[in-house]
Amino acid sequence: MGFKKNAPMSDWEHLKTVLNDLKAGDLLRTPAVLDSPVGARVVVGGREVVCLCSNDYLGLAADEAVKAAAIEAINTWGVGAGASRLVSGTLQVHQQLEQRLAAFKGAQAAVVTSTGWMANHVAICALAGAGDLILCDKLDHASILDAARQSRAAVRTYAHGDRGRLRRLLERHRADYRECLIVTDSLFSMDGDLAPLEELVELKNRFDAKLMIDEAHATGVFGQTGRGVAEHLGVDEHIDVTVGTLSKALGAMGGFVAGPEVVIDVIRNTGRAYMYTTALPPAMCAAVLAGLDIVRDQPQRRQKLLAMAAELRDRLGAGGLSTLSSASQIIPVVIGGAAEAVAVSGRLLSEGFLIPAIRPPSVPPGASRLRISLCANHDPQDLARLADVLT
Ligand SMILES: Cc1ncc(COP(=O)(O)O)c(C=O)c1O
Repeated sequence: MGFKKNAPMSDWEHLKTVLNDLKAGDLLRTPAVLDSPVGARVVVGGREVVCLCSNDYLGLAADEAVKAAAIEAINTWGVGAGASRLVSGTLQVHQQLEQRLAAFKGAQAAVVTSTGWMANHVAICALAGAGDLILCDKLDHASILDAARQSRAAVRTYAHGDRGRLRRLLERHRADYRECLIVTDSLFSMDGDLAPLEELVELKNRFDAKLMIDEAHATGVFGQTGRGVAEHLGVDEHIDVTVGTLSKALGAMGGFVAGPEVVIDVIRNTGRAYMYTTALPPAMCAAVLAGLDIVRDQPQRRQKLLAMAAELRDRLGAGGLSTLSSASQIIPVVIGGAAEAVAVSGRLLSEGFLIPAIRPPSVPPGASRLRISLCANHDPQDLARLADVLT
């Protein structure tokens, strides 16, 4: 036994089994390859189709002003940042973006990370550790759940949106720990529903806990100024720490944490996914700065997006299809089995709609679905036709 140098691929039987098992369960992933930029319409296999699966909610990923800002930044700053933020990787444009994000979120300070995944990691590991308790919604994003497990804090989850269960967990366990952190997505990425932030604020106050929210899918979309669900629900001032991503409505790449200065300073000094990785490319910072201008100056983009989503949900509902508790631009249509979901997705592609099947482990077994996500640039007539085809 032992490791055989230059072992032929036929030796990787255990990994082949993994793939064969996934294939047998219709869980093997074969993503569509786009021949065009992402947008409301994309080209797949030489054919233009309506794209209903990206997180480019405001159509900024290929927006002319955003692209021009990124190109100018490449000409000014080069392509790569060259090092970690703590070495020579902090450029003026990083600082500018962090100040802008702090102001946008109404926070004392903000720190930018290379992805949204990393933002959750550094935030959670700064806020909780051994001797602390983290309480998460079961449908929180994988980056939250993984970070909570890695933080060395005790972790408990409550059923999706179940405030009663959260209250009981606090009653039973809060006193056994030093600090307690409640973490929730503000807009759930697979169900498209909103977290009950008003009640979570009340619970965190009652039990002396802190509340961190992940506004990945809501930043730029919800709230009067596009800050997110906390602004939409009027609880902005009661959120302790906000995480967001620059990769969805803001159309680029990267993540951020916004909150009290002390939290941000601890992240800058201890956050492993901040310290031990190369800084975000400058073009991404400049693209996001341009995207934030659009969020500020063009509220009509998010208004149109949410109005189209409400209309599509109504049409699907009228046709007898459930969209769970979706209240956003993310609209799930649960099919059930993975094979059925793949089949429906294939038929939709032949009708000109790109909506891949979302299957376990992204969603629970038996809850495979179409996750329809809208973009402000969609043509309402395309959405009306989608509703007809689906219903
Ligand atoms: C709720 C949530 N948080 C964080 C992330 C990670 O963000 P990023 O893709 O920028 O790494 C995602 C990505 O899908 C997400 O849905």
